[in-house]
Amino acid sequence: MMIDPCSNLTSSGHGGNLVGNFVSERLFFLQDLQILELVLALIVFIAIHSLRQKRRYGVPVWPFLGMLPSLVSGLQSNLYEWVTEVLCRQNGTFVFRGPWFSSLNCVVTADPRNLEHLLKTKFSVYPKGPYFRDNMCDLLGDGIFSADNETWQRQRKTASIEFHSTKFRQLTTESLLELVHARLLPVLENAMNKSISIDLQDILLRLTFDNVCMIAFGVDPGCLSPELPDIPFAKAFEDATEATLLRFVTPKWVWKTMRYLNLGTEKKLKRSINGVDEFAEKVIETRKKELSLETETQKQRSDLLTVFMRSKDEQGKPFSDKFLRDICVNFILAGRDTSSVALSWFFWLLEKNPRVKEKIVAEICRIINEREEMKNGGELKSSLILKPEEIKQMDYLQAALSEALRLYPSVPVDHKEAVEDDVFPDGTVLKKGTNVVYAIYTMGRMEAIWGKDCREYKPERWLRDNKYMCESAYKFTAFNGGPRLCLGKDFAYYQMKFTAASIIYRYHVKVVEDHPIAPKLALTMYMKHGLKVNLIKRHETELLNYLK
Ligand code: HEM
Repeated sequence: MMIDPCSNLTSSGHGGNLVGNFVSERLFFLQDLQILELVLALIVFIAIHSLRQKRRYGVPVWPFLGMLPSLVSGLQSNLYEWVTEVLCRQNGTFVFRGPWFSSLNCVVTADPRNLEHLLKTKFSVYPKGPYFRDNMCDLLGDGIFSADNETWQRQRKTASIEFHSTKFRQLTTESLLELVHARLLPVLENAMNKSISIDLQDILLRLTFDNVCMIAFGVDPGCLSPELPDIPFAKAFEDATEATLLRFVTPKWVWKTMRYLNLGTEKKLKRSINGVDEFAEKVIETRKKELSLETETQKQRSDLLTVFMRSKDEQGKPFSDKFLRDICVNFILAGRDTSSVALSWFFWLLEKNPRVKEKIVAEICRIINEREEMKNGGELKSSLILKPEEIKQMDYLQAALSEALRLYPSVPVDHKEAVEDDVFPDGTVLKKGTNVVYAIYTMGRMEAIWGKDCREYKPERWLRDNKYMCESAYKFTAFNGGPRLCLGKDFAYYQMKFTAASIIYRYHVKVVEDHPIAPKLALTMYMKHGLKVNLIKRHETELLNYLK
């Protein structure tokens, strides 16, 4: 736009005013336009600059907001896939820059070298840390899952001795056998007879919740019964974990104020923790009475509560009721949903890979056929109960479950906090206080770790000469690794194998057509819409075909 240099900007009078007004309006317009152009230029510059940062950091970095816009768009589709895409582009590690007003900055990695470094080599530099403990403290207290240092070590040692004892193994196998045969199979049989679809994930969640309560507290809450009831303790536990999770996405000062004022989700959390505590207190009180009487039942008990009640702290004193409560609640949290969620993804993967399903049935039949009674003309009955030594021989089933956990790990991401300055083996520099997120879901989808076929479901990758071979915990991190390796790993495999084999031997599990399948965004990777299935009886004649 041109400005007439001859314009009389100072002329007075009516006519002069008109001209003056016109000129000053034009000038304002001009200034507006220039400001607009300047702002536009600035926006374009920032956009180009931010987008060019993508090459360097893997994600555009915006002023003030950091990488938040990309994270939000990732949240709208599938966050785990979004993280996977970025990590694959960045060779396994990237630094997430959150908005300047948040504490969302963290290092995200899926590099096995870094995993070994943080989970084992420099274990003491990477505890769970105050951020995790602060968020979880009301629910978990000083329990094994959130504790560090001596508090963690003491529980780990006692629990580890217990987990490897014959008595405990007996408790776990017997309680599972009872749950599967007296409760799970009748529920499935009933659904099959009435031709109704069931949510298999919900049923498996009930099974493992009852099972872990039997192991931790020595009591059965009865979630898995024919009427699939709502059990107040189970409901309180679920509400408490969900409300606790919200703290991870809420600024600390916000949830702390809400807790202080007893508002919103914090109010709900307090109420549900009270529900958990009430249940725990009642069980502890009853067990104490039992212990003082030293009844026969008490002597036979080998659940965690009884074991910790019988042991003493370092001053030789019995553990406090609060500590006993923390121990049990932590074990329930660690062991309640992981196996059932893994089994749900496993059954869905079998639906998509019938060849694998066939091989599992063939393996079960082959192993049963080695029984003495089968050699003497026995039959493949549907009332048959699988024996622990038979479950151990099921290498292909173990491979198929590991492969499901590789692609759908029950804990999709985990977290640590650096308590010293450090450098990762891949060269990433970490300052003291940096949050580290390790992306377990992504690790199963990295060509650099598993090869070009990493996204395919192939149990064979776990077998050498038809025998199951476990992988390095820093490559297959579904059970964590190093000193904090999952304590329930062996039991979890037994639980999954026994449950899966008992179902597959009896039924064809058919996922309902068009049932939507997606992961839920939570600490555990549930199926967002559950797993709706129909069951069809597997007949004896069909099983006999596998023996030919
Ligand atoms: C498929 C099943 C399971 C998977 C994938 C799994 C996975 C994991 C993972 C990833 C951790 C590390 C969590 C962390 O430190 O943030 C862990 C820890 C733990 N798990 Fe498991 N778990 C399973 C089943 C179980 C079961 C059935 C139990 C108990 C009955 C159990 C008991 C524990 C305990 C006590 C810890 C804490 C260990 C420690 O911090 O020292 N897990 N598990």
